[in-house]
Amino acid sequence: MKRLVIVGAGRMATVRTKAFLETQQVRLCGVASRNLDNAYAFARRFNCEIAFDDYQRLADLNPDIVLVETPHQIQTHIVHWAITSGYHTLIGGCPACSLEEIDWIRQVATKKNLIVEAGYEARYKAVWKQARQIIQSDRIGQLVAIRTVALFPANPESWYYNQAISAGMPLTHMTYAFINPLRWLLGDPLYISAFANRKKCLTSQSVVEETCIANLLFPDDVLCSMTAGYVRPGSPREDDSWYVAITGINGELKVFPSDEGQGRLVLEQGESIHQEHFEGAPNAFELQVKTVLDAIDGDNHCHNTPQTCFMDVAVAEVISQSVQQKQTIELSRWLQSGLHV
Ligand SMILES: NC(=O)c1ccc[n+]([C@@H]2O[C@H](COP(=O)([O-])OP(=O)(O)OC[C@H]3O[C@@H](n4cnc5c(N)ncnc54)[C@H](OP(=O)(O)O)[C@@H]3O)[C@@H](O)[C@H]2O)c1
Repeated sequence: MKRLVIVGAGRMATVRTKAFLETQQVRLCGVASRNLDNAYAFARRFNCEIAFDDYQRLADLNPDIVLVETPHQIQTHIVHWAITSGYHTLIGGCPACSLEEIDWIRQVATKKNLIVEAGYEARYKAVWKQARQIIQSDRIGQLVAIRTVALFPANPESWYYNQAISAGMPLTHMTYAFINPLRWLLGDPLYISAFANRKKCLTSQSVVEETCIANLLFPDDVLCSMTAGYVRPGSPREDDSWYVAITGINGELKVFPSDEGQGRLVLEQGESIHQEHFEGAPNAFELQVKTVLDAIDGDNHCHNTPQTCFMDVAVAEVISQSVQQKQTIELSRWLQSGLHV
């Protein structure tokens, strides 16, 4: 049994703790959160009696693996502590708030031989695996263009809406929906240009890019337009506010990945329309934690290593810079010239 400790006691900590315990390969040894009562309440739900309001006290429990499920600004300090201390780490969301930070994580994790995984679960999800398989087997032919929509009604009072604490909407939201899975399908984008506005929450703390449209040029001349943001009035069907449509010269694939559910695909080729549902598929969060545990034992098939996710953070930073500068940015040139520093 591996010794698991958790920092954070919110929504995603619950989801991933359940996934870890489902493997029956870990023992929950302790929980730390900002508020001690919350930490205790969370720990007790999972039959654990040890809780702290100072995450560094978790070191007393001699953990093998740390699950970090906190707002991103505080995550930076916790991940630094976990990796410096030599613990394998699953970071619940984006891996870092900046390129410098993800670069530090990848260097130190490599040197210390630690498994570090970012929380993007799409690459473990059956609906995305099947989308990738359809594209790679050429069933819709050469890819032409992609449209994505990811509108999420974030609570203006929550940390998600705070620019400093979240590190911004492109990093928090767009890397997840859907830069990380699109890079898995298509490779890294070559050029990026983006516009953003702020119409709903205008306080000085709220996210700069509340709603953003980013155009990305992927290899092989594949055009992509991504619309994402925190303004989603009413309660539209998830199909209208959370999807990826991929046009090929021989057909169109629509991916409805679903945020909470298993998602579905619609494949249109001429007159034929084929739908595929994934209700019975394995749970992506469980697959991800199992993969992390296997990696700790030497069988490393992790999809979201610091090496891989470096580009997710880079694309988010370039989107923000393109918005500020109102310019198209060539990603490789931007990285080479150190324009991010
Ligand atoms: N993959 C996905 O599907 C997905 C979806 C949504 C979010 N995420 C990611 O999941 C992560 C967690 O998000 P969430 O929605 O679970 O957040 P959340 O529900 O707001 O929970 C955040 C937790 O962090 C704790 N916290 C805040 N400041 C802290 C500090 N200084 N020290 C220790 N704990 C502190 C809070 O503590 P108290 O409760 O004690 O105040 C709270 O329990 C984020 O990285 C987010 O981007 C992933």
